[in-house]
Amino acid sequence: DADKVIAIDGPAGSGKSSVSKAVARRLGFGYLDTGAAYRALAWYVLERGGDTADADAVRAAASDLPLRQRLDPDDRRVLVGGTDVTAAIREPRVSAAVSGVARVPEVRVQVNEMFRAVVADAEYPAVVVEGRDITTVVAPDAPVRILLTAAPEVRAARRAGELAGQDAAAVAEALHRRDASDSAVVDFLHAAPGVDVVDSTELDLPQTIDAVLAVIRRRR
Ligand code: C5P
Repeated sequence: DADKVIAIDGPAGSGKSSVSKAVARRLGFGYLDTGAAYRALAWYVLERGGDTADADAVRAAASDLPLRQRLDPDDRRVLVGGTDVTAAIREPRVSAAVSGVARVPEVRVQVNEMFRAVVADAEYPAVVVEGRDITTVVAPDAPVRILLTAAPEVRAARRAGELAGQDAAAVAEALHRRDASDSAVVDFLHAAPGVDVVDSTELDLPQTIDAVLAVIRRRR
């Protein structure tokens, strides 16, 4: 079922989510935000009073995570059990904790199986799957694999713009810390062989969307 996957990886602030959603909408495809699943798991660990630096607590939470995520690019709600966590999973406390859950290898294996099952069951001709290891681990055989990059200072500025009201320097610092921690787990800063790179440093959102659509047309 890798044929159904449009794989898009990249660091925070690369424009990955906005671009992936827009591309899915434009092509009538589904959209899966894998980072949201890791965030929901981090939220769940914290909700249970656990610490995401504790691998046992993370494994225990992962084994019964009641996660519900739709593939509709216009409905990004994320539910854990009966709780709508859509906003909560974007809070700084979750962003700061999420790398801890992403670092547990068995948990990665488990969520990757979940992602593949969700794509296989999807009632869409294809699904844009965004994350950090989609091009390399989740769907290395996907016909379209894209790494979306941007210069670190541009990424920090974009993220600070999204999180209006928060201190820009603190946002940049948190983003760099999360990138450093995440890149020890998966290399999402360099393209694997066969992966097309789209660098959005000098592109605005519509231009980045067009660049990604051009890669999809060429590869699919
Ligand atoms: O994409 P987003 O920034 O929301 O991802 C949140 C976190 O989830 C990342 O910082 C990373 O720790 C983890 N993640 C991952 N593998 C993915 C997607 C996200 O480890 N495929």
